[in-house]
Amino acid sequence: MLRCVALALACASCRASLFASLVETHDDDAPADRREAAATPEAPPSKRDVLAWRSRLERKRACVSSGVGAFYLYHARKAAGTSLRAALQHAAKRSRVDYLETEGLSIDARFLGLRSVITVVSLRDPVRRVLSMYWYEHVGWHDGVTHDHSKLRTLRSWADEWVEGSAWKREFEKKHPGNVYVEVENYFTKMLTGWNRDGRGEALDGASLASAKAALDRFDFVFIVERGRRANHTRLLWDALGYELPLTSELRGDESAKARLRPKLAADEADVVRFLEARNALDAALYAYALALDDDRVAASAAPAPRTRGERPPCEKPPLRQLKPKTGIFRPPGHKH
Ligand SMILES: *[C@@H]1O[C@H](CO)[C@@H](O)[C@H](O)[C@H]1NC(C)=O
Repeated sequence: MLRCVALALACASCRASLFASLVETHDDDAPADRREAAATPEAPPSKRDVLAWRSRLERKRACVSSGVGAFYLYHARKAAGTSLRAALQHAAKRSRVDYLETEGLSIDARFLGLRSVITVVSLRDPVRRVLSMYWYEHVGWHDGVTHDHSKLRTLRSWADEWVEGSAWKREFEKKHPGNVYVEVENYFTKMLTGWNRDGRGEALDGASLASAKAALDRFDFVFIVERGRRANHTRLLWDALGYELPLTSELRGDESAKARLRPKLAADEADVVRFLEARNALDAALYAYALALDDDRVAASAAPAPRTRGERPPCEKPPLRQLKPKTGIFRPPGHKH
């Protein structure tokens, strides 16, 4: 279990683990374990890749702990991003290095090739994530914040508006190149491949999946929400941070709104889930790949650390001026639609 260490963040919320809430909320209809088991097994990365990952992280850690480098979070929406932000900001402050983050814009691959930048991303069951977007982003806004129910769509109508090919979505893509703030279809694949750079909303294919997997490989830590309570998974985060820091729960949500409005807005949730599953095949494969990658990394990190021999390659200050325009939250008008 996540322990609260003395120096950590505000610890009051540690016990109510974010992952407990994220995982258990949905125990009723889709046990994470069963979904994991049903996922298609993917060819795991080779052993050599995992060893390369480990020595790369080791080198980056040496740079960051000497005060040269940065932490970078690619903030996947509705997938524990806020909690990871708190952890990485804490770690960056501790090492006196920069903290960089991108949310809502598909990734710029430059972030993944930097010698002294420790990179983190998160994944979650793709369809669960979409449902969470609906309840917390759309319903949470119109019901909980503006109290204007006239703007409230049913889950079905919301999904139909945001799915690829709808008139609304096509227009949105044209207006907001590179934006992935609201995606209901293969969000993870899109965000990791720099999708819609020029507003064309290009179709995804097997090559997109392959390049999303390659991007995942380049991240130093890939957090998986459904594994957030596994000690061997949390250990990998601590290895990236350089010390043990529990994740605090920053989940924004309103379960009571969901209970109250579900009969009116999502009586047909099971149908919509099937629709979304059919539309998220690439993300399902990517998620399965992330689980296999995590298994390999967990196994590799159980062995003693590889000896770093000889002199270290030089550390590099990240090119902040070039990177800054690609950091921040990219929240386009119309995202509550
Ligand atoms: C990590 O821990 C879980 C239990 O929390 C266990 O089921 C799994 O096999 C472990 N993974 C590895 C690679 O040892």
